Amino acid sequence: MDEYQPVAALLPLLDWVLEWYLRGVRRELVRLLATRGTRAALDVGCGTGALSRLLADAGITTVCMDPSRTMLSMAERRAGVPPRFCVLAGSAERIPFGREFNAVIFSLVLHELDAEQRELAWREAHRVLRPGGVVVVVEFTRPERGGGAAWLGGALLRFVERQAGRIHPPHYTGYRHLMAGGGFAAWLRAHDARVLEERRYFWGNIGLFAVAARPD
Ligand SMILES: C[S@@+](CC[C@H](N)C(=O)[O-])C[C@H]1O[C@@H](n2cnc3c(N)ncnc32)[C@H](O)[C@@H]1O
Repeated sequence: MDEYQPVAALLPLLDWVLEWYLRGVRRELVRLLATRGTRAALDVGCGTGALSRLLADAGITTVCMDPSRTMLSMAERRAGVPPRFCVLAGSAERIPFGREFNAVIFSLVLHELDAEQRELAWREAHRVLRPGGVVVVVEFTRPERGGGAAWLGGALLRFVERQAGRIHPPHYTGYRHLMAGGGFAAWLRAHDARVLEERRYFWGNIGLFAVAARPD
């Protein structure tokens, strides 16, 4: 099922909101990959293709992959003619590539998955990375420091996720499961991931994590 199909008419608005609240994160993500000399990137769960477009504009050969046809139709428009990046239907749990990428990106995708799907997606990401590559994740996490702003930011995100769960309940279940375990930073620690870079946004509630490819 295409969980975004019922809200297709709202997607331009969602796109605009994400553009606004993720602009700093996306800029940093592109800088990080450009600094590493990234040539080929896979944007898993690319949604409307906003990040893929930024990556392509930075000279990175980019594949934008998502299971939602509704999302992909916007991504195709964003890719332009001739397309600046490749748009492909596919899921994180089964990536239809071999060891071809210097970077695999999950931007606000992993919290939408259940625990088993998340594990599969993680394994798949590492499988398609070239040696020396990185998995870059933008994801919800727990702030390292408390305080009113951190609490308020967390409450706001929780509210948004709860609303998303009304349209597609597994989405909110995945989010709650991730946060109950301490958020994505804790998930990475539990997976012995080698975090190369980490930045926090939204008063610590959203993290940008660059994780080293696992050695074979
Ligand atoms: C909140 S949107 C984020 C979109 C985009 N990455 C961004 O940062 O703007 C989450 C995206 O994850 C996609 N998604 C959901 N389940 C997925 C799966 N199993 N594999 C890959 N992508 C998935 C959704 O279709 C949606 O486009």
